[in-house]
Amino acid sequence: MSIAIAIDGPAGAGKSTIAKLAAKELGFIYVDTGALYRTIGLAATRRGYTAEDKAEIIAMLDGIAVELAFNEKKEQIVLLDKEDVSGLIRTPEISMMASAVSAIPEVRAYLLDLQRNMAHTNNVIMDGRDIGTVVLPDAKLKIFLSASAECRARRRYDELIEKGMDVKYEDILRDVETRDYNDSHRDIAPLKPAEGAVMVDTSGEDLETSVNKLLNIMREHI
Ligand code: DC
Repeated sequence: MSIAIAIDGPAGAGKSTIAKLAAKELGFIYVDTGALYRTIGLAATRRGYTAEDKAEIIAMLDGIAVELAFNEKKEQIVLLDKEDVSGLIRTPEISMMASAVSAIPEVRAYLLDLQRNMAHTNNVIMDGRDIGTVVLPDAKLKIFLSASAECRARRRYDELIEKGMDVKYEDILRDVETRDYNDSHRDIAPLKPAEGAVMVDTSGEDLETSVNKLLNIMREHI
């Protein structure tokens, strides 16, 4: 039987960075489910669709192939019609589009089996918004990871600046707040802590402290 750890929480709480390091330490596979929604967002953007084009986005799903794979460093890559789009999905534009497409029930249903299959065949730390509530309700451990909006915006801003992107902190904060609102107010699979989730707040903590905190919780449970 494989072991699943679900980590949910808002954008920029440090889920992916922390989960990646914790997975390495535990020898688990880290699955970033946000990348799947981003890939659908990219496919829609490439076709010139906007958040309003729901019917077109739903119709598009049958004609695209989204796959998760792992490179030689065991890092996740995401393929859209066999093209590695892992780098292309990390822009503010695609972030907003991912949030929009993730509110479409058909998009969520389309990605559900892919996510569950990963957890059936591997020990995983899977991060997203509805992993503990919808995707893996029987996960061995569920964690809800959060931090203040300002703190999350600052982290994302630093990340993007480091990648050489020309962004403003105020715009990132506004995006974080908008996405928080969208993600937690949508009708389907809204962002909320799963029953029995361990609540962890990483505001003001450095990465090492947060990783150690999570590793301690994980080791207690697995
Ligand atoms: O974690 P992220 O920022 O890469 O996620 C991108 C968007 O996808 C985010 O706005 C919420 C959505 N998402 C979701 O609805 N469910 C998930 N399991 C993961 C992400």
